[in-house]
Formats: sequence, structure tokens, C-alpha cells
Amino acid sequence: MNVPESDALFARAQESIPGGVNSPVRAFRSVGGTPRFIARGDGAHLWDVDGNEYIDYICSWGPLILGHRPKAVLDAIASTLETGTTFGAPTGREVELAELIKSFVPSVQMVRLVNSGTEATMSALRVARGFTGRTLTVKFEGCYHGHVDSLLVKAGSGLATLGIADTVGVPKAFADTTIALPYNDLDPVETAFKERGDDIAAIIVEPVVGNMGCVPPAPGFLEGLRSLTARYGAVLIFDEVMTGFRLSAGGAQQLYGITPDLTTMGKIIGGGLPLAAYGGRADIMKKVAPLGPIYQAGTLSGNPVAVSAGIATLKYLKAHPEVYSIIEQRAAQLTAFVPQGVTVNRVGSMFTFFFQEGAITDYESAKKSDTARFGRFFHHLLDCGVYFPPSQYEACFMSAVHSVEDIEKTVEAIRSFEG
Ligand SMILES: Cc1ncc(COP(=O)(O)O)c(C=O)c1O
Repeated sequence: MNVPESDALFARAQESIPGGVNSPVRAFRSVGGTPRFIARGDGAHLWDVDGNEYIDYICSWGPLILGHRPKAVLDAIASTLETGTTFGAPTGREVELAELIKSFVPSVQMVRLVNSGTEATMSALRVARGFTGRTLTVKFEGCYHGHVDSLLVKAGSGLATLGIADTVGVPKAFADTTIALPYNDLDPVETAFKERGDDIAAIIVEPVVGNMGCVPPAPGFLEGLRSLTARYGAVLIFDEVMTGFRLSAGGAQQLYGITPDLTTMGKIIGGGLPLAAYGGRADIMKKVAPLGPIYQAGTLSGNPVAVSAGIATLKYLKAHPEVYSIIEQRAAQLTAFVPQGVTVNRVGSMFTFFFQEGAITDYESAKKSDTARFGRFFHHLLDCGVYFPPSQYEACFMSAVHSVEDIEKTVEAIRSFEG
């Protein structure tokens, strides 16, 4: 497909922005070709600057559970703009959003608003360390928790896409505070606690992984993490930046019935604007400044415009709980046909077509995928007007406004792939 306007913008962008993009995976490095520069979105559809239309399964990497430009969110933003854009002082809306979050996620007894998922995980980790007086963190290979220095160890997502093992610029001393273990395998976690349990502040985990592609937890895995952390007095952090408000109203923790100590949230919570949060047990959160000694702050934290978009989104989800069964049903319909030699992993409205046969349960198995064939699949879909993530190691997302026709058209496109 010729995209002269995107080509021209990409060439210009590369003169001023590293790689031409403000987040690496957008550059199409692992699939080749020119990233589409987007002119606008509406509902479940995107239009690029060359006028091509796409059915969007990236949904801005998860936030857009209500699609592009949902009226409730646009109205809330417009009315907030009438009052100002930022005050650097508390507003009633922040209280309303905090109360809403608590009503969705009962394990969150207190919550602090931040601006990005990275900030949420970075802060949650600091709080876990401050609370326990310990240093080490256990994370899982292929889980991505934002670009927090110490968590960029075997971090999946964009790093997996680009084949970056460990990030230059992260001091060894920071990386040494992280123990990276295979996902879905409890034995190494148990061994780590036996050997270093007194030093482990926290386990941080994507309860359903999205960042090595979609990988569900094996039965008993999350339960095992819960009981080990409880036994050793470490903090269990569920990173629900992706899964929160998506896999169910109460996120993965509600779906699997596990109560973490702290939860990080982002994406959907901001209704498409920059907003994220961390929260959890009150005794832990009470250690956060100004109540306690663990410092964490932000000039634009609780930004009124972002908060109003978040409130409108969560209120819509509360009033329309049927959204969850609809998006799950649509995702099931979309993934019912699978090309030969491909395995689909799906949890609710998150899914990945892995270009390999056999079970994908962890980073090692995910990495066996045929990324070249995935690249051909990606470009075939793009040519058919279907916008999937430009990497094997990402999840697709369904929104509440993807129509049956959208799904049928997508299935047709998948069926016609001959690569
Ligand atoms: C599970 C998870 N945690 C944290 C982050 C980081 O969030 P942000 O990109 O808003 O910093 C992401 C981003 O994709 C994520 O998927």
C-alpha cells in the first residue's frame, strides 16, 4: 500500500525525534514499512493521513475500551475545560475518581493518582520497599512494567520487539535489585524466597501478561505468589495497568479471585488521557507522603481534564456492565478462526495470534514465534484495513464499539492470509 503522506512525515520525524516516534514500538521496526501517521479516530476506526481507514485493534495500546471519541468522555472533557486545565491544588473530581476506583477494586483502600503507568509501578515499588525496609524485587521474564530502571530486566514488549536484552543506561546496581524469573513457574520463586526472603520487598506481576503477547496465568500461579508473599512478609503488586477495568470491572484480581497488597492502574483509568494510579492496603498506603515518610509527588498529578475523562469512562462502565460480556464475545468471535501454524491466546478482550504451534505459557515459549511470518500477517491485515499491533509481542484489544461487521471483515482478512 502506498502511503506518501505517512512516508513524508516519517522522513521528517526522523530528523527531529529518535526513530521518528515517541515510543519505540510505533516505529514498525520488527515488521518493516512505514508507520501510519494517524489523522483521526472515531468509534472503532482510524484514518491515516493518506485517507486510509482501519479497524483499530490497538486502541491506543489498551485505554480506548469505549473506542475513539466516546460522547460521555468528550462531554466531560469539554465541561472541565471551561473551568481550567490545571490548578496544582486538590479538586473534588479527584476525590470522586478515588472513590470510584475503590468501588471497582475493593483491594484498593487508598489510592494515589499519577500520570503514567511507569510512574505507578515505580512508585508502588518504592512504597513496597519503604514499607518492608527491604530492597529486592521479583519480576517475571517477559512482563513489562513501564520503563522503570530496575524493571527493565527481561522486560518483554518493546524490548522483546527490538531484541534489546538489557537496557544501556541502567546501572548494574539498579538491575541487581531485580530477580527476574520465568512466568508461570512457582518453584524458582519459592527458591528465591528460601534464599533471599529477608531481602525481597515485593513481587510485581502482570496477572495476565500482555507484554510478551497475551499469556494467561497457569492455574495456581497467582495463588502461589499470594501465599509466598504472605508467608515471607513481602508485598504482592499486581500490575493491572493493562488488565485493570478491562478483564472485568475489578480487573484480573476479580477474574481470578486473588487479592494483592498493591495494584497499579493506567490506560483505561484515564479515558484516553495521561492518568494512572497506584493503591492498595491502607496500612501500606499510609506510609506515602505527606502522611508517611515515602516521598512521591507530581506537578500534574490528578490533572482535572484527565481525571474527568477517567470518571466519565468508569461511570460508563459502571452503568453498562454488559460491556464486558460484549467485548469478550466479540474477541471470541474474532479469534475463532486461526491460520495454520498459529496459536491464539485470549483472556476476555485481550488476545494475541502467536505464529507457532504449541502452548505459549512464558517468555521462552513466546520467543519461539515466527516473527517474519507475523510481519507478513501484519502487513496483509493492514492492506485489508485492519490495524493490529506492529509486533508479535503485544496484545490486541477489543472495544465496546467494534461492530459485528467489523469483526466479520477482520475474520475475512485473517482467512485470506496466505503467507
Ligand atoms: C502492564 C503495564 N505496566 C506498565 C506500563 C507502563 O505504562 P505507561 O506506558 O503508561 O508508562 C504498561 C504499558 O504498556 C503496561 O502494559
